[in-house]
Amino acid sequence: MMTAEEKKKLALFLDITGDSLRDGYKRLREAYQFSDDEIPPSSGEPEDPYLNGFPEEADTLEIVAGRIRLCTACALHRTRTQTVPGEGVNRPLVLVVGEGPGADEDLTGRPFVGKAGQLLDRMLASIGLFRNKNCFIANVVKCRPPNNREPLPEEAAACALFLTRQISILKPRVILSAGRTAVQTLLETAASLGSLRGHFTEYKGIPLLPTYHPSALLRDESKKRPAWEDLKVLRVKLSELDQAYAREAAERNP
Ligand code: URA
Ligand code: SF4
Repeated sequence: MMTAEEKKKLALFLDITGDSLRDGYKRLREAYQFSDDEIPPSSGEPEDPYLNGFPEEADTLEIVAGRIRLCTACALHRTRTQTVPGEGVNRPLVLVVGEGPGADEDLTGRPFVGKAGQLLDRMLASIGLFRNKNCFIANVVKCRPPNNREPLPEEAAACALFLTRQISILKPRVILSAGRTAVQTLLETAASLGSLRGHFTEYKGIPLLPTYHPSALLRDESKKRPAWEDLKVLRVKLSELDQAYAREAAERNP
């Protein structure tokens, strides 16, 4: 039998220990919401899938992550080890949106840490982007689909409020979507990745560049060159945004 306070202390201790054993990188976390063991579960009432209100009302990344951690809105919650809300800096230059956690992510609670994730990190680093410096890495669904299958449309739809809310808090300068699921979900389109990748479109006024998923590059070497071309398109866009920003700043302070 544990009280809420004891559980919280234990959870915080485990978080800190986990961070320092892993890589010292302090992950974003929200306040835990535990209850005392002796409080009986409320009777009869249907379970509120989003607990404490709707995701779009959460006003910090930590609160969104907390809602995700408690979420049971789709069947993926039954098979997850833990949720993977995403990580990185707020107000990032680039928000990367992938599909959903794989086995490594499900075990660590961190996005893109397996083979595909390591390739993604190398690709981003080649144009000066780092998840602990100027990026945020997220996924369409926050819980691992069993056997790495694609998320079902109803799972992506159930989880969409979280990504939408994350984006409106993060206010990224640019979104890089990796793979078909991410771009099709963000743009609510059935258009093929082949027709969408490599040029900028927009998501709610934010420049969005669709590219291949790094797993696709691991499976098919021939996609590496076009993926590199996409990264160059991203690099050009970032330097244009930088120049526009510098011009505005100069105009404000002549
Ligand atoms: N693939 C994804 O789409 N996301 C991850 O976080 C890891 C692998
Ligand atoms: Fe909730 Fe998303 Fe996990 Fe489904 S995948 S249980 S909607 S957090």
